Amino acid sequence: MAARTIRTQVGIVGAGPAGLLLSHLLHLEGIESVVIESQSRAHIEERVRAGVLEQGTVDLLNAAGVGERMRREGLVHHGIELRFQHRGHRIDFQELTPGRAITVYAQHEVVKDLVQARLAAGGQVLFQVQDVAIGALEDDSAQIRFRHNDEDCRIACDYIAGCDGFHGICRSSVPQGVFRFYEKTYPFGWLGILAEAKPASGELIYANHERGFALLSMRTPKISRLYLQCRPDEDLSQWPDERIWEELQRRVESVDGFRVNEGPILQRGVTAMRSFVAEPMQYGRLFLAGDAAHIVPATGAKGLNLAAADVRVLAHALACRFRTGSGERLQGYSEICLRRVWRAQHFSWWMTSMMHRFEGSDGFDHRRQLAELDQVISSRSAAATLAENYTGLPFQLPGEEL
Ligand code: FAD
Ligand code: DHB
Repeated sequence: MAARTIRTQVGIVGAGPAGLLLSHLLHLEGIESVVIESQSRAHIEERVRAGVLEQGTVDLLNAAGVGERMRREGLVHHGIELRFQHRGHRIDFQELTPGRAITVYAQHEVVKDLVQARLAAGGQVLFQVQDVAIGALEDDSAQIRFRHNDEDCRIACDYIAGCDGFHGICRSSVPQGVFRFYEKTYPFGWLGILAEAKPASGELIYANHERGFALLSMRTPKISRLYLQCRPDEDLSQWPDERIWEELQRRVESVDGFRVNEGPILQRGVTAMRSFVAEPMQYGRLFLAGDAAHIVPATGAKGLNLAAADVRVLAHALACRFRTGSGERLQGYSEICLRRVWRAQHFSWWMTSMMHRFEGSDGFDHRRQLAELDQVISSRSAAATLAENYTGLPFQLPGEEL
């Protein structure tokens, strides 16, 4: 039987933050899109992941009319703490980057807000699709084939946005040799937990400790999000609750007797640390955005924010293409995005190298880290560099200066 054909302007693979936000921004520009997602709606709306939104991401969500709940429930932070040698040092965003802050608001809440906005506007988001394949990327129009509700389906579209994350199929559907990959893996991961416990501090704490890195974050005034550096292939069965709490307490201990608040652990998982970039981020009628094109180690809190920055550029370029017929902005998509991507790669690598324990070193690395941290807390320009990058570089469109 012939596949059911859906005709649209932009076919979007993946309903993560990149795919959903792109679909919403295109809608605001009067451009039609269809999003397909391999997971269920409940799954993507509950998946615990990022939590830190840069100022630019917050501004973008607000300008796009999907920031109402974020403004109500998000926690605005004007600084973070760096903790080492049992002392805390605050990096004050307000003083160092006037007007810029971060907002702690869970990624899955952003996803919920975007799904709701798409469906309320009559947008098509197809969940639990299977056997997705893309093709005809060099032709006059592109296509996406998949199965949905036991039916063979086909999207015929002008362009495809590959927003299907690091493990998606879009990047690998392009002929070999088109993309160049840059990759770095780190000899550690993060064990992350969500706990029903009041955050012990009003702001995030990044701790460098001889036993390894720890990060205290939060989701709400009653829910903590906490991370411990661990092995990349760490076996969670070796981490009963008591061991997690004991290790957290040790890594963030301070001269003033600081304690992490403990409580029932609601969720736990291990995340590997990786730096990855595919260049260019486009091929024919395919444009990669977000984790499909690049991964950063989580220490700089940049992944979700880069995804938002990519799709802002892509939505703008597609709008120019459909409005004026000129593909010039689309051709420049990758170049514009990669500049920001590499800045974020550098920042994330730098934060990661400064904060984690590197096995096998004779202590040189730790001493070097302490010197670097000392510089960050004692030099205004070094602190400002961290604050500028952490709160996020301004978003850039073609023709705009950074
Ligand atoms: P994804 O969110 O991965 O979305 C891709 C979507 O595509 C998924 O829904 C997937 O199911 C779907 N998909 C995959 N294959 C297919 C297919 N074949 N067909 C259809 N659909 C498909 N970033 C930050 O900015 N700040 C943070 O604080 C932060 N913390 C993090 C903490 C953790 C523990 C983790 C794991 C990540 C963190 N990140 C953080 C990174 C951030 O979560 C990602 O960068 C972000 O999810 C990227 O969004 P995306 O839409 O590009 O990809
Ligand atoms: C969170 C995650 C990060 O990677 C980070 O650097 C800061 C906070 C979080 O999940 O809250």
